[in-house]
Amino acid sequence: MPTRLDTRRLGASDLDVTAIGLGCMSLSGVYGACSDDDGIAVVHAALDAGVNFLDSADMYGWGQNETLLAKALKGRRDGVVLATKFAQVRQEGGGNGVDGRPAYVIAACEASLKRLETDRIDLYYMHRIDPKVPIEETVGAMAQLVRDGKVRHIALCEASPATIRRAHAVHPLAAVQTEYSLLYREEAEATLAVTRELGIGFVAYSPLGRSLLTGSVTGPADVANDRRRDHPRFAPENLERNRQLAARLGDLARAKGCTAGQVALAWVLAQGQDIVAIPGTKRVERVRENVGALDVRLDAAELSGLAAAFPKGAAAGTRYPAGQMKTVFI
Ligand SMILES: NC(=O)c1ccc[n+]([C@@H]2O[C@H](COP(=O)([O-])OP(=O)(O)OC[C@H]3O[C@@H](n4cnc5c(N)ncnc54)[C@H](OP(=O)(O)O)[C@@H]3O)[C@@H](O)[C@H]2O)c1
Repeated sequence: MPTRLDTRRLGASDLDVTAIGLGCMSLSGVYGACSDDDGIAVVHAALDAGVNFLDSADMYGWGQNETLLAKALKGRRDGVVLATKFAQVRQEGGGNGVDGRPAYVIAACEASLKRLETDRIDLYYMHRIDPKVPIEETVGAMAQLVRDGKVRHIALCEASPATIRRAHAVHPLAAVQTEYSLLYREEAEATLAVTRELGIGFVAYSPLGRSLLTGSVTGPADVANDRRRDHPRFAPENLERNRQLAARLGDLARAKGCTAGQVALAWVLAQGQDIVAIPGTKRVERVRENVGALDVRLDAAELSGLAAAFPKGAAAGTRYPAGQMKTVFI
């Protein structure tokens, strides 16, 4: 029997999710190779540890991630809150586009249901906002999926406060998913102001700063062969500054007898009961370590010490490369 972990409710939905979920993106080779067998073992380790919240997207491995989850969830689907996403599309000639047209929403959902081998998606996100399509039209189609019983609850990623308000007026959002960690707080905290006002849950992605906050990256060579090399925070001119910031977590972690990554996760979870975090890993032992963050308590002095050690805007380098920065928080 899996361990029973404390859960948090997402907004006004009936989704009670473990405060630490499993981000499944890196099971698709984004941060280095991961075989399907290893990916399935990671998902099983998370479920065995009591995690009930799995985060996928149709564009992680362009379908492979959802197919992998279908295999991993054979006989284990009940009790899992399965989240996936649509809207990012491959463009001819390379690069990703965004499609929020209602007909696309319906087709994308059908394709995800088929790959996931399930009859319902518990939480369905729009992965990026499509500036070409009024959000009301996209959310209208997502609401239709709820009425049709294909989706239980809907959500947005990387939406600005104004977009969140417009979407929520059409159909209640259970959650908004945005990057949030000690390294990158500004947009998340602006988002939190509106999700709190409207009673929407907040899902913190990349809560380990895409690995930086764990202290496991020692230099550019560690990320030379994966997607992180394109992220400004890992660029040689920024990496050392970010590593020095992250080192401040190590001191507190040693004093508390836990790891730096656990402190980073505990900090996110301490920012409010409306927040859950979805760290990703392709290693079984790190799944257990990340779940262990639920046992790390930070007192008021530790929280304010961390806020002072990581002032807002302290990270060197933007959250995404320049082109992708135009597609977030809109
Ligand atoms: N909505 C969006 O636009 C969006 C964008 C990005 C991510 N996400 C979601 O958020 C999830 C998490 O984000 P993320 O994977 O980008 O970043 P993250 O969770 O902040 O960091 C993942 C990285 O940290 C490493 N790591 C994890 N646990 C560790 C530990 N205990 N000790 C040392 N290193 C550790 C992993 O390496 P190993 O695999 O080698 O352990 C991986 O390189 C994704 O899986 C995805 O589901 C959503």
